[in-house]
Amino acid sequence: RLEKIWLTVGIAMLFVFLGVIGVSAFAMGTQPPSRHHHMIDPAKVNETAPFNQPGVFQVGKTEYEAVIVSYAFGYTGGPEEQPEMRVPAGSTVHFTATSTDVVHGFEIPGTNVNMMLVPGEVSQVSHTFDRKGEYLILCNEYCGTGHEYMMTKLIVE
Ligand code: CUA
Repeated sequence: RLEKIWLTVGIAMLFVFLGVIGVSAFAMGTQPPSRHHHMIDPAKVNETAPFNQPGVFQVGKTEYEAVIVSYAFGYTGGPEEQPEMRVPAGSTVHFTATSTDVVHGFEIPGTNVNMMLVPGEVSQVSHTFDRKGEYLILCNEYCGTGHEYMMTKLIVE
């Protein structure tokens, strides 16, 4: 009878332990994907660093910073303006983005990259791209009649 009690206590403790692990894994997995750390004048985005020079820049051995300005209905820093929005596989890309007009979205499906771009607010998120391929970047906030065409690409090669 005593053995049975101890077995029950043991099993209960195992579940508590698994529960703690589960909760902390869940908490870590649900960290906000983007952080908003400072504001700039939305009317002066194009003349405020780093947005006065959008594009993809190597900042470390396997690290890149992608500076992106969003507007209705596109992104500066994407292939249209800068065909070199390419990074080698295995790179960590630090995206820094904002909007010049209305609220836009910045989502790369299949990754943790999913930001809301508010005019004048600087949003940042990082992601490591291990797999080669073309990654679609799209706006997931309704921003007007051209919303569904607002997209660009990041090529991981
Ligand atoms: Cu920009 Cu929808």
